[in-house]
Amino acid sequence: MDRTQSQSVFDRARRVMPLGVTSNFRYWGDDSTLIAQRAKGAYLWDVDGNRYIDYRLGFGPAILGHALDAIDDHVREALHDGVIYAMTTEREVRVAERIVAMCPAVEMVRFANSGTEATMHALRVARAYTGRDKVLKFEGQYHGMYDYVLWSTYQPVETMGSRRDPIPVQASSGIPAAIRDLIITLPFNDFELLERRVREQWHSLAAIIVEPMLGNCASITPQPGFLELIRKLCDEYGIVMIMDEVKTGFRVARGGAQELYKVNPDLATYAKSLGGGGYPIAAFGGKREVMEIIGHGVAHGGTYTGNTLGLAAAEKTLEILATTDALEVVAQRGKQLQKGMSDILETKGIPFAFAGHPSMFGVVLSDHEPRDYRDWARSDHAMYDKIAVECIERGVMPDPDSREPWFLSSAHSEQDIAESLTAFEDAVNAVAG
Ligand SMILES: Cc1ncc(COP(=O)(O)O)c(C=O)c1O
Repeated sequence: MDRTQSQSVFDRARRVMPLGVTSNFRYWGDDSTLIAQRAKGAYLWDVDGNRYIDYRLGFGPAILGHALDAIDDHVREALHDGVIYAMTTEREVRVAERIVAMCPAVEMVRFANSGTEATMHALRVARAYTGRDKVLKFEGQYHGMYDYVLWSTYQPVETMGSRRDPIPVQASSGIPAAIRDLIITLPFNDFELLERRVREQWHSLAAIIVEPMLGNCASITPQPGFLELIRKLCDEYGIVMIMDEVKTGFRVARGGAQELYKVNPDLATYAKSLGGGGYPIAAFGGKREVMEIIGHGVAHGGTYTGNTLGLAAAEKTLEILATTDALEVVAQRGKQLQKGMSDILETKGIPFAFAGHPSMFGVVLSDHEPRDYRDWARSDHAMYDKIAVECIERGVMPDPDSREPWFLSSAHSEQDIAESLTAFEDAVNAVAG
């Protein structure tokens, strides 16, 4: 594949932006960081004109495919009336009503602009509601780019201590060490350890924040009863359960993971699919009793919250998701892809397991689905990453990091899946011989 243009733009980018990117996750190396030209439906083109069937979808948001005309037209129309007013709009109320109608645990909602902002505000609400400061999160889970939660996300497992007594590890320099006192990190799906820690520390624990499915670690699923245990412990000890649905929301079901697993959190956070093709909008919401403390001594706001761009995109996206079979199509395509991949990996005799939901699934080269981040680290992710790179060379683009799931959209056609499987088979052959 010719990458001359990408390289030349990237060389310019490096001179004016650290690493040549605007998010560290987008840096693939000095000689392999691609520059995008455009995206439409299931496809993305780089500046050299190479076309890829896209399974990253901008890290998940493009649930209906890129640049869906129905969403873009609706946004364009809405923009004629301006973008921000420092006032509530009726459109905002309509979108809030739609979210409340779709998400079983959400009775009230407030908007934000990114997943980071949504989880950040949810944590503040939880702390204010409980009068406690500590937050429990799970290793390998990612909740955004800020100091309270950027712990034990992508670090090498060896730095995280014993699984019986995990050490929270900063994911970046610049995070104050003092925050360590406010965070507890545990392996996902460890019933006994969770129960023990909560019983020891509940009096200072404001929230348990959980990605119901590890959208940032191969989509590892909760063991039956694990989310229910979090729910039970939160009820017992007056802790706020926050389900971070930034990746699962409006994707694994219309009402997200809370609908899929039938576990209602106290608060939930949304972004990504909420904005259809990637318009910047996020939300957090939940029980009326918890949400109603906002404005009564609890701060939330932001100049751009509730802007027309994001809201109009959300309005059309949610209408489509609520009234069509788009999510069924997404899941169906995911199943087709999984079936084909299974056949290919089985034929090759490569041990593998799928994790997650067909709409966002991880491919783990291991003889079982991992239970947690530490378990994923023991899989052959080095081999997976090589296969992913070979897929990209063949015009099929999963993320080159096996922690990032394959994201499907309703724009992926059966033909796209068939083409992807041919590329996947060639990629597996190129790596495994
Ligand atoms: C589960 C989860 N929460 C929060 C975030 C942060 O969202 P954003 O990148 O919009 O700030 C992400 C981003 O990938 C995420 O996957």
